[in-house]
Amino acid sequence: MRSYHLAFWLIFILTNPFMFVVAQQKSIDQKVDSVLRLMTLDEKIGQLNQYNDDWIATGPVTVDSDKSNQIRNGQVGSLLNCLGVERTAAWQRIAMQSRMKIPLLFGQDVIHGFKTTFPIPLAEACSWDPEAMKLSAQIAADEASASGIHWTFAPMVDIARDPRWGRIMEGAGEDPYLGSVIAKARVEGFQGDKLGGLNSVMACAKHFAAYGAAIGGRDYNSVDMSDRMLWETYLPPFKAAADAGVATFMNSFNDINGVPATGNKYLQREILKGKWNFSGFVVSDWGSIGEMINHGNVKNDYEAALSAITAGSDMDMESRCYKNNLAKLVNDKSVPIALIDDAVRRILVKKFELGLFDDPFRFCNAEREKKALNNPEHPKTARQIAAKSIVLLKNENQLLPLSRNIKTIAFIGPLVKAVKQNKGFWDVDLPGVDSNFIVSQWEGLQNKVGETTKLLYAKGCEIEGNNTDGFAEAVNMAKQADVVILSIGERRDMSGEAKSRSNICIPGVQEDLLKVLLATGKPVVVLINAGRPLVFNYTADHAQAILYTWWLGSEAGNAIADVLFGDYNPSAKLAVTFPRSVGQIPIYYSHFSTGRPASSDDNHNYNSSYLDESIFPKYAFGYGLSYTSFAYSNLHVSAATINRNEQIVASVSVTNTGKYEGEEIVQLYLRDKVGSIARPVKELKDFRKVLLKVGETKTIKFIIDNEKLSFYNQNLEWVSEPGDFELMIGASSEDIRLKGAFQLVD
Ligand code: BGC
Repeated sequence: MRSYHLAFWLIFILTNPFMFVVAQQKSIDQKVDSVLRLMTLDEKIGQLNQYNDDWIATGPVTVDSDKSNQIRNGQVGSLLNCLGVERTAAWQRIAMQSRMKIPLLFGQDVIHGFKTTFPIPLAEACSWDPEAMKLSAQIAADEASASGIHWTFAPMVDIARDPRWGRIMEGAGEDPYLGSVIAKARVEGFQGDKLGGLNSVMACAKHFAAYGAAIGGRDYNSVDMSDRMLWETYLPPFKAAADAGVATFMNSFNDINGVPATGNKYLQREILKGKWNFSGFVVSDWGSIGEMINHGNVKNDYEAALSAITAGSDMDMESRCYKNNLAKLVNDKSVPIALIDDAVRRILVKKFELGLFDDPFRFCNAEREKKALNNPEHPKTARQIAAKSIVLLKNENQLLPLSRNIKTIAFIGPLVKAVKQNKGFWDVDLPGVDSNFIVSQWEGLQNKVGETTKLLYAKGCEIEGNNTDGFAEAVNMAKQADVVILSIGERRDMSGEAKSRSNICIPGVQEDLLKVLLATGKPVVVLINAGRPLVFNYTADHAQAILYTWWLGSEAGNAIADVLFGDYNPSAKLAVTFPRSVGQIPIYYSHFSTGRPASSDDNHNYNSSYLDESIFPKYAFGYGLSYTSFAYSNLHVSAATINRNEQIVASVSVTNTGKYEGEEIVQLYLRDKVGSIARPVKELKDFRKVLLKVGETKTIKFIIDNEKLSFYNQNLEWVSEPGDFELMIGASSEDIRLKGAFQLVD
């Protein structure tokens, strides 16, 4: 491969005088200028055109059999869904036959791992561990880049407060602060210190913007949102990604207040490229430029291309609107060439930064690919991060962790022996790689227990459907066991893109299976596998122990076994509120007080409550148990008043009062008591994850500065206002352990 590269490069330089000139220039900007000057309009438009390879489509594939010729003619700037060095190198070789020899960019949805699959992003978010998330992104980038990929369409930083929306699995949950911390970590993980590192890929903050607020939780649906909600809740993670240097943005399928995001000048030109000074490029979502015709905002492809390029969408993913219309739009003088140049420039800069002009094949090393995809350290890390993502929701009578002396365990349920299900939605299906490396839950438990423990298995039922024929066998197994572990939930394709559900209860007869198992009198630990918060009131109220395992990836089985037996003490906390019923949606902790707040479920005296449902969630944002317990004490707030240039330090002592070493996620919430705009009842402003040995106490310090007290006022100015603030420190958004107060003065 290497000698091939050298030879190629020599021929490349010698046969390409343009590139020789380019190589003489100094800065990337100068190099891009030189390239741009040499390009025809058709070649420029080619750079803005992205096609799918021949498989893995999430939308209608519009590419015809002429793809190779188009690449050879410089009419394609990027491909997505090409997997493996062999294939990417083959396409790149064709690109090198084009007049300008501009390398192709290879993009891929590397959402939660490449070959090594990490927990789905929402699960990982529950670890509240930015370093862990950075690491999983780093490993994904290492594997993907070794496989010829330059660019991941991740992280998805959409705030989501509606679990009916299947793509809630792909983000970091409901909170703008936590979402921003995670956005930064993931961008840094994917991109490394600087674009161009061999082990990194370009990241892409998506979907810009407000895609997660689709009305009714129905994917691709419209979004109707106030500017203030947009700025306060939905934009912060995007801003955090931009500040972290994310190379690209992807716009979204939805319209916002009637204007499709893809043709939205306010979002892309004014906010992103204007106010935020974003210098990377924006790719459309799959076909979203053409879809503006369906939205009813443009008449045809020609108008769609005009709207998108004017609004700041630089690259067209798979709609062909740019390819078929931009030249005409320029010739008709509807689109100034400067707009095209700006879009091309943004893309070329990234190709230079990635080093592709130096060596278009630098990510095409088959040896490195083999090594990276078989790195034994990657599964080890995936196992640790998976364990960190499991949320312990209930643990009656300290049923967990299980003792190693248990004689017989009945492991029951439709997901026990499932293999690929553990990967969740948005895994990467690598050609030629079988599923052997995925550790099923059955295997994980087998790996864990010694010879003295007998494992019994029954499927019990399917995930969906009404068939209860398997119940008798399951009950029979349960009766022979000391403890039952029941693994139930969703199929992995029940959450994800285009996987909205109006009923988010645990499907089929799975909770009925739990009922008959509980009737045996045996203690039951329930594992809930899902891509979203489900509704499972029966399980929540009756099972003795519940672990919300989400979809944990290739090491799911081992990680679950680690937690079941206490080799890892669960520390995760929910990054999203769990409702009791679909009727409560949207439900999130940082709501306003309202003029008639309800404080309990007992009083419906013309207040903001439901007659037939609690106003409280089943599980609150920030909730999650440990095998140990933590006491909070000694809240100290360093000053009673501060001005805008000062800081307050809030310190608190946290003690491990239980029997196991464990980690606690200590959460700081603030409430601005009186504002010119109503302020939420509480907002997460900081958190710390702290490891404590049995009996150990640590003091945690939170620094509160003017930034943490600021919000968007009525004119959308970022300001703080003098007045009283309440400070809350707790183990969840509901479980506030200590409260303090201070005042901001002018
Ligand atoms: C999704 C994007 C994804 C793209 C490419 C679209 O359907 O919305 O998130 O990156 O497909 O696969």
